Amino acid sequence: MSPPALPRLSGRRVLVGVSGSIAAYKAADLVRQLRHAGAEVRVVMTRGATAFVTPLTFEALSAHPVLDSALQTDQGAIGHVELAYWAEALVVAPATAQVLAKLAAGLADDALTTTALSVNGPLLVAPAMESRMWHHPATQHNVATLRDRGAVVVGPARGDLASGRAGDGRLVEPADIVAAVGAALGPGDYAGRVVLVTAGPTAEDLDPVRYLTNRSSGKMGYALAQAAAGRGAEVVLIHGPTALPAPAGVEMVAVRSAQQMHDAVFARRDRADVIIMAAAVADYRPAAVSEQKRKKGDGPLTIAFERTPDILAALGASDFAGTLVGFAAETENIEAYAKDKLARKQCDVICANDVSAGQGFGAEDNHLRLFFKDGRDLDLGRGRKAALAQRILDEVRPA
Ligand code: C5P
Repeated sequence: MSPPALPRLSGRRVLVGVSGSIAAYKAADLVRQLRHAGAEVRVVMTRGATAFVTPLTFEALSAHPVLDSALQTDQGAIGHVELAYWAEALVVAPATAQVLAKLAAGLADDALTTTALSVNGPLLVAPAMESRMWHHPATQHNVATLRDRGAVVVGPARGDLASGRAGDGRLVEPADIVAAVGAALGPGDYAGRVVLVTAGPTAEDLDPVRYLTNRSSGKMGYALAQAAAGRGAEVVLIHGPTALPAPAGVEMVAVRSAQQMHDAVFARRDRADVIIMAAAVADYRPAAVSEQKRKKGDGPLTIAFERTPDILAALGASDFAGTLVGFAAETENIEAYAKDKLARKQCDVICANDVSAGQGFGAEDNHLRLFFKDGRDLDLGRGRKAALAQRILDEVRPA
């Protein structure tokens, strides 16, 4: 039988929970295949699992730190709560009889089970154990409890077991688990939608060797593009110069100046259902770009600047029929400035961030408040840009 075709999981955030079974080594292949399908993968392990496969294996395969202790808070490692909020789905593979029992009972005494209690998305379990353990009424009762609660139970398969006996209890093939993850996650709430995101700074040339730019890293826009792709959207990311890797499954359009960004946006505007202007577009550019390198003189230098096109305002004034989302980076009077921008640029939502206190530009964290055309406002609080991106998408999803 040929293995099932890998589903497209671009940008989907899948948490793999590994528990202590001889089949734990197969979870390494599962992580590899999930990533191959485009998913972002993080791994959480029970202590038992670490006796079979080292966290380093999963760290290398997932390209992220592995959580193997509920108390882990060291630098670079993500705590269990944040990991749970990050995950769109949790797949426990292999799932031992012990971990099935704990999940069914709601016990939280290690990294995996603690994390599992705060994951919101689908739970998948792929049992692996000795045949009699699988058929024991206690295990069957626990599996039934999990199923009743909506968990997807994948397998186990029948075949040779580690005990040397044959029977039910083999972990199913990783490709079958990947297929089940794809089915459980579904097409995403942005399937069929086109989302256009701008990100990063623009660079305005002064002469062939000098230019003006700003401190935008592009992280917020890239996070939005990645999140939208993960939720099934067709995403175009129009970006100024950044040092970030292209998010999986996103069409990248590199530009440099505000004018180029304007032209790139307007060329694609008609296809978009949602446009999110997260770029820090330069407001001014040198009025004249010197073709040759400007030579220094003895006295002071004055350079004339002119306004760049305001892309967001131009979109707002145009007949663009989709949802238009702007950003506002402010150091003071956030509400007043954001509301003014909302009206002046005629957008549907302004995401205002406070860049006064080490947040915003270049940081992993942001504090965002959304202001809507209908007068509502919503404080998303402080959080990782990736998590805030998801919240923004929740709020601006077309009906
Ligand atoms: O006016 P301000 O620069 O604060 O507005 C920020 C919002 O306007 C952002 O969404 C930014 O992407 C957008 N913008 C633009 N074109 C400009 C300047 C800002 O689209 N020239």
